[in-house]
Amino acid sequence: MKLPNNQTMSTTLRAWKETLEDLGVIGLVRQPLPEVKATGSSDSLSLLPMPPPYKPSAPPRAPSKVKEAKIAIDWKAPDDPIKNPPFDAIVACESLDALNACICKCEACPLGGGRIKFVFGEGAPTARMMFVGEGPGRDEDIMGRPFVGRAGALLDKMIAAMGMGRDEVYIANVVKCRPPDNRTPTSSESQTCLRYLYRQIELINPSVLVGLGATPLRELLGDATGITKIRGAWRTVVIADREIPFMPTFHPAYVLRQYTKEVRQAVWEDLQSALARSQL
Ligand code: URA
Repeated sequence: MKLPNNQTMSTTLRAWKETLEDLGVIGLVRQPLPEVKATGSSDSLSLLPMPPPYKPSAPPRAPSKVKEAKIAIDWKAPDDPIKNPPFDAIVACESLDALNACICKCEACPLGGGRIKFVFGEGAPTARMMFVGEGPGRDEDIMGRPFVGRAGALLDKMIAAMGMGRDEVYIANVVKCRPPDNRTPTSSESQTCLRYLYRQIELINPSVLVGLGATPLRELLGDATGITKIRGAWRTVVIADREIPFMPTFHPAYVLRQYTKEVRQAVWEDLQSALARSQL
């Protein structure tokens, strides 16, 4: 976009424009946002050229069954209710702070013993849009906050491109402690930790969930289909009798690895669809 010679674009506006262009959006988005059909299709995004069909260039990672079996055999969950909070204590928590205090000393799965910091999640306690990632990485483990590394910087850009800040959405993960070497959390680790995420979702009561990558899709919906096949198509997660729309999309770390226009456009479409649905 060209401005007359005597005008300069503010740094913020320039950063916003670059972010949008980075996500594959050509030109500035009109306000209000164009109406988006909740189908994951891009045909209502008049500002975007139709993306070519997406072809994955790498197979999705699958968790190793051997590792999972070994970890599960070697592990015994503690009886201590501080290290392994019982279900009743979790559902008795009436606020996110209370839930955090209840579970932050958890060692109910092998990940608890290896963490530096417990990564509860952060954002608006009544957010309409909630992102669910896989689990903390090194930076998150050190900071005790979700998505603060390189993938987090991209997630921030995506959120900003939707016209919001981190404090207007909620960001959490399937597991709250870092898996060693950033491996995918096993299903037993994830399932142990999910009771916390479920309560967190109940308390936040978001209008939509955005699942980042294959792990939330696998653990929240029991769907092991590759994210590349399923992204962009609305699903439903049932939590405490409430049906919550769930949009599976690519993990920001995947977007960084496959930094193609197709992948960025796909994520942008998914986010537009999620944003439109969160505002219904
Ligand atoms: N990747 C995730 O899935 N979650 C984080 O918090 C950071 C990176």
